[in-house]
Amino acid sequence: MITKQTIDRVFETARVEEVIGEFVQLKKAGSNFKGLSPFTDEKSPSFMVSPVKQIWKDFSTGKGGNAISFLMEHEHYSYPEAIRWLAKKYNIEIEETEQTDEQKQQINERESMFLVSKFAKDYFHDVLMNTQQGRAIGLSYFKERGFREDVVEKFDLGYCKDEWDNFTKAALSKGYDLKYLKSTGLTIVKEGGAEEKKFDRFKGRVMFPIHSMSGRILGFGGRILTNDKKAAKYLNSPESDIYHKSKILYGVYQAKKEIAKQDNCFLVEGYTDVISFHQSGIENVVASSGTALTSDQIRLVHRLTNNITVLFDGDAAGIRASLRGIDLILEQGMNVKVVSFPEGEDPDSFAKSHSDVELKEYLETTAQDFINFKVSLLMKDAANDPVKKAGLIRDIVTSISKIPDAIQREVYIQECARIMDISERVLFSELAQLLKKDVTNKAKQNQSNYDQPPPEYFLEQEQAAMGVVKSPGKSSESINQLNILEKEILRILLLYGNEEVDFVNWVDGEDKQGRPIIEKEEYKNTVSNELYLNLQEDEIEFSNEVFKTVYYELIHQLNQEEKISIEQLVAHENPVISGLVTNILMDEEKYSLSDWERKEIFVTSTAKILPKLVSDAMLNLRRILIEKKISEVLNGIQTQQITPDLEEITNYTELKKLLFDKLNRVV
Ligand code: CTP
Ligand code: MN
Repeated sequence: MITKQTIDRVFETARVEEVIGEFVQLKKAGSNFKGLSPFTDEKSPSFMVSPVKQIWKDFSTGKGGNAISFLMEHEHYSYPEAIRWLAKKYNIEIEETEQTDEQKQQINERESMFLVSKFAKDYFHDVLMNTQQGRAIGLSYFKERGFREDVVEKFDLGYCKDEWDNFTKAALSKGYDLKYLKSTGLTIVKEGGAEEKKFDRFKGRVMFPIHSMSGRILGFGGRILTNDKKAAKYLNSPESDIYHKSKILYGVYQAKKEIAKQDNCFLVEGYTDVISFHQSGIENVVASSGTALTSDQIRLVHRLTNNITVLFDGDAAGIRASLRGIDLILEQGMNVKVVSFPEGEDPDSFAKSHSDVELKEYLETTAQDFINFKVSLLMKDAANDPVKKAGLIRDIVTSISKIPDAIQREVYIQECARIMDISERVLFSELAQLLKKDVTNKAKQNQSNYDQPPPEYFLEQEQAAMGVVKSPGKSSESINQLNILEKEILRILLLYGNEEVDFVNWVDGEDKQGRPIIEKEEYKNTVSNELYLNLQEDEIEFSNEVFKTVYYELIHQLNQEEKISIEQLVAHENPVISGLVTNILMDEEKYSLSDWERKEIFVTSTAKILPKLVSDAMLNLRRILIEKKISEVLNGIQTQQITPDLEEITNYTELKKLLFDKLNRVV
């Protein structure tokens, strides 16, 4: 683990405009910088960096954050990777926390395995390019297949000499430990006899290094060059502490930027499919390397986009075998399209026999929605066979039941009913059954990890907060209002939390004759304390999980340091917190994107209206919560036909009226 001190130093030193300046051309615009969004193809700049606040915001995608989150978004680094990148840029020495000997050893072993893998990659590449045998056998094989030298370089392709231990000897002579040559599988050691014998696993094969998302070498695939039926065509690194086949996608390192930019990922089967596509100018492509797709692999893509296009070779058996894996993609709420190639062709051969333009056009015009594709495909077998058709219905509805979004499910049911010529009712009831079963199963699975909602959940809550309401439900209106108010309270806390102002309170009192009157009471308080006490008093909890997280962080700060520190929040290691905070702060800056400087007008006036801003926000929040309560009670009456608790409703209505009065009085 990197120490807190190192992380703090990185944050103190790093300048967001310098970091982003390495990736985006920035132009000064008032006190800010602006540039073209690196996340979309746009013509007029909507990307902004604030050197004063040390944050950035991309108004075309809504993304924003600090220097760290930029690296995480743009380079797809993990948090520690981003810290390391910055430390390197600013020459900051990284201190690591003390680890137990066992931890140290484990980390060291993995590190050593990475090191030897990197050496192997460089060595095999060097053999391919710079030795007589490498060029004559390996490189000429790639050339024969039509691979250009630039893609050979881009994918670090290599060759392992056709000698028993050429590589192993080289590695040992460079001081690499046999232990790690063994654990990575690069060297096979045979015990027995007088001394152990060592062999290169990949002897005589061309090498495809497999990179992690951030570019480290995890393992290799090696292809045989002869037509030997007895030997496997491809040999892969064995499972190890650094190579887990089910969690890896070949090509993700070379594809990640383009996947995010195109907002789509092509999924193919093999190494050569990926490479051929790159050569044809299509770079958003990864391969599952011939195995069944796993949830871990899909999650890897999901970090970059919500859309997958699965490409099938032109053989029917293969397609049927892959259908199950695609349900896993639907399960993650991603959109799936399908392209199938003509009989006997795979993406590699198709790309080779067509021009770049033809390939692009083929992908665009034949891409088909997955569910439609599956229905049409299976209907071909089942058209005149009622028993098969019944099985097919179940199969299709199972796929549909994996889609998390209810509206999308409904659309698919309607579509399938049409294609299959069955009533929607039948499909819906099948779906209802499956969903019920699913819910029970999920509930069982999730019990243990309930306290960690998935990131998509945060995203949805954030979107709801921004006013993007997905499903037009009855209560969405009030949820939306609630979100807006909760966000407003956070905004006030962030921008003005540390200000001390005069607040007014209206209390019941008596005049000199003892008659009841309402008296005005003034007192000083900081904005943050005032809001905190108010929320505390009414036991109000934020309904939006993201806002709740940020709010508790703010309270934590207040308790610890008696003031809110924006810098700490912007630099917070929880991306949910730093993300929302920068979003709120940057929204204030939006106007300076055009040359219209609106800020000055605000600054002078806000101080005066602060007390009203605070009390309005609180009163409005209470009002909405009460409206919600009332409609809950009314709903209960309607749906469960319970006798109305008139007193309860009257009480709430009275309270609501009181709040309205107060709201007006403060004006
Ligand atoms: N594969 C593997 N081990 C095998 C066969 C295949 O790991 N014994 C994986 C490889 O990642 C391969 C992919 O499955 O790229 C697809 O296999 P296949 O279609 O047989 O190979 P191609 O990629 O078409 O390779 P080539 O064109 O070189 O024959
Ligand atoms: Mn092939």
